[in-house]
Amino acid sequence: MAEKTLDDLFLDTLKDIYYAEKQILKALPKMARASQSEEGKAAFLKHKEQTEGQLERLQQVFELIGKPARGKTCEAIQGIIAEAEEIMDEFRGSVALDAGLISSAQAVEHYEIARYGTLKSWAKQLGLTEAVELLDATLQEELETDQLLTQLGETSANPKGSKKAA
Ligand SMILES: [Fe+2]
Ligand SMILES: [Fe+2]
Repeated sequence: MAEKTLDDLFLDTLKDIYYAEKQILKALPKMARASQSEEGKAAFLKHKEQTEGQLERLQQVFELIGKPARGKTCEAIQGIIAEAEEIMDEFRGSVALDAGLISSAQAVEHYEIARYGTLKSWAKQLGLTEAVELLDATLQEELETDQLLTQLGETSANPKGSKKAA
C-alpha cells in the first residue's frame, strides 16, 4: 500500500465535511420549525441557504483537486445532530427549548469551524490557492453564524428560558 500523504488526509477531511454539510442541510429546517422565537427561525433558515452555497463551494474544491464530490460518514456530526434531536424531543413546549436549539447549533458551528480551519491551512500547505479562498469564504460564514447564535442566546432565547412560564 502506498504511503498516505497530506493530500490523502485533505481529501478524507473534505469528504467528512461534505457529508456533514449534507446532514446539516437536512437538520436546519427541522430546527427552524422547532424554534419558538422568530429570530431563531430566521437564523436557521438563513443558515440553511448559506449551507447550500457551502456545499457548492465544496464541490468546487473537489473539482480543483480532480476528485468526484463524495461524502464519507461523519460520526461526529451524526452524534451532534442526534443530541439536537433529543433536545427538540425532550424540551418540546418548554421555555428552555430555544436555548437548547441554539446550544446544539453552536456545537454544529464549532465542529464546522474546526474542520474548515484545518482544511484551509492544509490547502495553503498544499499550494491550493483557489481552495484556500473557497474554504475561507465558508469559514467566515460559520464564524459569523456562531456569533449570531451567541447574540441570540444572550438576548432572545436564554433570558426567557431561565424563567418559568407564567
Ligand atoms: Fe456549514
Ligand atoms: Fe454552519
